[in-house]
Amino acid sequence: MLVVRNMWDDVDGKAWNDMSSQYDDNVENSSDPVISGYISEEIRIAGELCKKIMKPDEKYTVIDMGSGTGRVLFSLQKILDNSVSYCGLDVSKSMIRMSKNKQSEMSAKNISFQKYDATNPAIDDLFDGDNSVKIVMCMYNTVGVIDATLRRQFFDNMTRLAGKDGLALVSAFNGDDFTFAAPMMYVPMKAMVQQIDEDSFDEKKLAFKNGLGYYSQWFTQNQMVQLLHSAAEPIPINVTLNNNTHTFGHIFSNHTV
Ligand SMILES: C[S@@+](CC[C@H](N)C(=O)[O-])C[C@H]1O[C@@H](n2cnc3c(N)ncnc32)[C@H](O)[C@@H]1O
Repeated sequence: MLVVRNMWDDVDGKAWNDMSSQYDDNVENSSDPVISGYISEEIRIAGELCKKIMKPDEKYTVIDMGSGTGRVLFSLQKILDNSVSYCGLDVSKSMIRMSKNKQSEMSAKNISFQKYDATNPAIDDLFDGDNSVKIVMCMYNTVGVIDATLRRQFFDNMTRLAGKDGLALVSAFNGDDFTFAAPMMYVPMKAMVQQIDEDSFDEKKLAFKNGLGYYSQWFTQNQMVQLLHSAAEPIPINVTLNNNTHTFGHIFSNHTV
C-alpha cells in the first residue's frame, strides 16, 4: 500500500491518544455483557456480510476507517479466507502504535495499519494501483466521533472506495433507543471516556458528551439511511440480558447484500 503524506496527516487525534491505553480493557476485553455482546454480534454480522459478497476468484481488501487498536481486523482475519488483505486507518498515533504491536505479537500477515485521517478526500491515493475489491467498514459508532462538518466527506469516502462491486458497512449505536441504550453502553466504558457528567446523556441531541471534550453522536435509522444514501434494511445488533433481547445498534450497508 502506498504511504501518502499531506496536510491531513497533521491531525493528531490527541483525544484518542489519551484513551488508547484503556481502549482494549473497556471494549475488546470488557466483561460487561452489553459491550461484549455488542462486539461479538457486530463482528459475527460483518463477517457474514463479507462472506456473502466475496466471490472465490476475486481479490478483496477490508478497510477499517478509524481502526482503533485493530480489534475489528484481527477478528475478521480469523473468520475470512486467507487471501483477504486488511488495512486499518486511524488518526491517532497511539492507536496505530498499539495495533502494530498487537500485529507483531500475533505475527498477523496481510494487515497494514497507517496513521491517516479518513475524512481526507484524497484517501483513494492510498490504494493507487490496487485493483482489489474494497469492503470499507466503520465500526462501534466511530461515525459518531467524526467531526460533523466532515461527516459527509467521510461517508462519501467510504462509498467511493467501495465502488459498485464492494460494500460499505457502518455499525452505529441505536439512536432510536438512546435513553435506554446510551447509559448501558457508556457507564461500563467510564475508565476510557474518563468522566460521566450529569448532562452527559444528551437526549435532545442524541449524543454522549463530557466536560473533557469527548463527544459521540448517535443517529436514528432514518438519519443513517440519508448518510449512506441507502435504503438497505439495517441488521440489528441484539444483546440478550436476563432473557430480554435489546437492540443496542445496527449494521447499515450501502446496498442490500
Ligand atoms: C470508538 S473508536 C473505535 C475503534 C474501532 N473502530 C473499533 O471498533 O474498535 C473510534 C476511533 O476512530 C478514530 N478516529 C476518529 N476520527 C478519525 C478520523 N477522522 N480518521 C481516522 N480515524 C479517526 C479514533 O482515533 C479512534 O481510534
